[in-house]
Parts: sequence; C-alpha cells; structure tokens
Amino acid sequence: MEDKLLIEGGTRLNGRICISGSKNASLPLLAASLLTEDKCILKGVPHLLDTCNMMKMLSGLGAQVSYQDGQVTIQAREVQESGQLYQYARKMRASFLLLGPLLMRTGEACLPLPGGCAIGNRPVDLHLKGLTALGAEFSVENGYIKASAKNLIGNEVSLDYRSVGATENIMMVAAAARGGTTITNAAAEPEIVDLGNLLNKMGARVTGAGTSCIRIEGAPDLCGAIHTVIPDRIEAGTYLIAAAATGGQVRLQQVVPSHLQLVIEKLRQAGVPIEDDRGELVVYPAEELCPLQITTGPYPGFPTDLQPQLAALLTTAAGESTITETVFENRFLYTEYLQRMGSQISVNGSAARIQGVKSLLPAQVKATDLRAGAALVIAALKTPGKTEISGLYHLDRGYEKLEEKLASLGAHIRRVSDRAVNL
Ligand code: UD1
Repeated sequence: MEDKLLIEGGTRLNGRICISGSKNASLPLLAASLLTEDKCILKGVPHLLDTCNMMKMLSGLGAQVSYQDGQVTIQAREVQESGQLYQYARKMRASFLLLGPLLMRTGEACLPLPGGCAIGNRPVDLHLKGLTALGAEFSVENGYIKASAKNLIGNEVSLDYRSVGATENIMMVAAAARGGTTITNAAAEPEIVDLGNLLNKMGARVTGAGTSCIRIEGAPDLCGAIHTVIPDRIEAGTYLIAAAATGGQVRLQQVVPSHLQLVIEKLRQAGVPIEDDRGELVVYPAEELCPLQITTGPYPGFPTDLQPQLAALLTTAAGESTITETVFENRFLYTEYLQRMGSQISVNGSAARIQGVKSLLPAQVKATDLRAGAALVIAALKTPGKTEISGLYHLDRGYEKLEEKLASLGAHIRRVSDRAVNL
C-alpha cells in the first residue's frame, strides 16, 4: 500500500527548527571513506533513503558500517565488489560516486549506468573524461560501465561543465593518486568544499575547493578521519520558502547563511524579510509577495534543487514570474500538478512563466522527483483545504523527519497509507 501525505493547508508556520546535515555532502563523504583502510567517522549524516542506500552499498563492498544518531562509522579494511551493489546503484545516481574510490582500492569497478530523479538525461561523460585523464579505462557493456586502472596518476583535467559529481569523483581519485591534479572549470558548491576538507583530514592536500580551480596533491596512503557534515542548504532553503509561502515566522538553526546568499537575496527581492541573527536565519511574513525572474545555475548561481519550491511560492505572487532552468532539461514535470491545484504556469522549453493567482485549490497530486515533492508540500501548506500527495518515496530520499519538523511548526500534516485515505 502506498503512503500518502495529507496536508490541511492554510496555517502559518511558526517556530524554530534545526536543519539536518547535508544529503548531497554526506553521499560523497561516505564514498570517500572507502579510500582508506582506516576508520572514518562522519557526524551529522541525515537518516534518509539515499544515505541508507549508500551505507548499504558500502557494506555490500565489504566495509564495516554502523549508524547511530547521525554518526556513521565506516571501516573498509578490504573492498570487494559484490552483486549486492547493483540493486541500490540503479536507484540512485549518487552511486556513481563509488566509481572513483572503487577504482582506487581495487583497480576495477563495474557500475550500472545511474538512476535517480526523473529530471532528465543525466550522462556521466565528464566523470569518465576526468578519470581517463588520471589513467582509468572504461567500456560500456549492457547498461554497465566497466572501469579498470593499473596506475592512477595526477594530471590536468578541464571540465566542459561544472559538474558536481564529476568534480567529486575526480577529487577522490586524485587525493589517493600519485602526483598532483588540477581541475579547471570545477564545481564550487559548498559540498565540494566539505569533501575537500575531509580529504585534507585524510592526508591529501586539496586547495582551491570552492573556486573553479582545484589543486590536489595525492597521498597514496590516506588515513582515517573524523568529520562533521555541513548543514543541508537545500533543506534550509526549502523551509525558508515554506515559511514565506504560509506567511509565517520561522527561525532556522544550524544553517550556514552564506551558502544561501543568492536564495536569501531573491526571497528578499520577492518581499520576504529574512534576518541573519548571529548565524541563524529568521523569516518574517511578507506584506506582499512580488514576482521574480530567476535563472538556475551552478553555485553560486540559484540552485536548481530549489527551483520547484520557489515556483510553488511564486504561484501566488502579485504578477508574472519567469524561471529559466539551465542545469537539468526536464525539471518542470511538477508544473502539471501545480496546475492541477489551480496555478497558472506555462512551460516553454527551459523556461516557465508563472502568473500569480490569489489562492490555490487543494487536489490529489504526485511527487515526480525529490524537489518536485517539496514544491507540492509547499503548495499544499499554503492552500486552505486538504491536499493529498503521493510518491513519497522521493521525499524520503531527501528530507529528514519532514512531517515531524513541519508539525512542530504548526502544520497539519500526516502520513497515511493509501487504504486509510480511501476510508
Ligand atoms: C548534484 C546533486 C543534485 C543537484 C546537482 C546540480 C548530489 C548527490 N546531487 O547532482 O541534487 O541537482 O548536483 O546542482 O550532490 N552532466 C553531464 N555529464 C556528466 C555529469 C553531468 O552532462 O558527466 C550534466 C547533467 O546531465 C546535468 C548537469 O550536468 O544536466 C549537472 O549535473 P551534475 O552537476 O553532475 O549534478 P549531480 O552531481 O548529478
């Protein structure tokens, strides 16, 4: 029986919540723990489907993995590929982050071409190009990437696009390879900086992480490390937008405001007062919600992972907004469901036009991917009446304790099984 979220909207969110550790930082950090035989301890790892699947994949590869209260202890004395990997790897694009560490530890890797959110054709050519420059060889057979490497040696890598995952895979291999690597046109996301910090603790020398040029001096004998994951800027941004959408007053704790600089700037431009109170963010009700023009882009651009949530907010802005998506080609699937709730959105290629309406209507809607699910939750929270959201699998991939956190802010939200909804 599929679970659904029932949200009785129209209530202002009020109160304070703590932001969890970053999903997108945790996944490469977990993968990087395979680079050493020593024990790695990661603190603040959120309990999510994606992080649990990554931990299961590490166990399947022979690592000893334990999780308690956000703390993961991993020790990969030996690494051996087992068929178990495939069942999880297919579900999650981030499984491809295991490619570099696996190659490094075993000299070979075989991974299914990755799955994940249905937000477009997401190739892995840049991962392969980068790792090829470091000495790996690849072939594609029946939907699997087979990789081998006898000797991985540092090199110059120039990426055609600032891919987050490709930058991370190359950094992990370069950190354990002989010699120095320079990545130009590298991704500069805070999650890249976090990975660089862990690799430095493990004995590599990473400089420039967070800029478009990263230099890595490899250390063939990486050691264990203890590291705390950065807060999840996408979760924080989602709650900022949810609070703004309901006209509430919410304080976010355990955030890094600088990671959300452009998001905060854009929300302020939309008329939403946001205060940085000694490192905590406080959102206040907007007098009037103004329309916005937004174009997504790699960091420090507007995050594509907050684009659907922002669209949900703008459905009731006073005027016409436009959103241009430049990162993924298929990231407007959610608009069909926002239309079902009465919003006026038209999509033309990579741009969506949103004509603000006074109020949305409750409906039965479905999360088509992780952030699409978050957008529907926001739309439901601000809409009087009962909205029913299915496709919760996606939300569970990326939002820790979603119902608990929203309920603590006063939202009327509960998870029910399909059967209970029909009673
Ligand atoms: C990461 C995030 C994801 C976020 C995205 C962009 C994780 C686990 N996921 O995904 O939430 O939406 O960054 O901020 O951190 N591309 C290629 N070839 C490649 C690699 C990527 O063409 O080899 C393209 C993709 O198809 C996509 C774009 O580049 O259109 C961005 O992808 P990338 O930056 O690699 O995102 P991910 O690392 O997959």
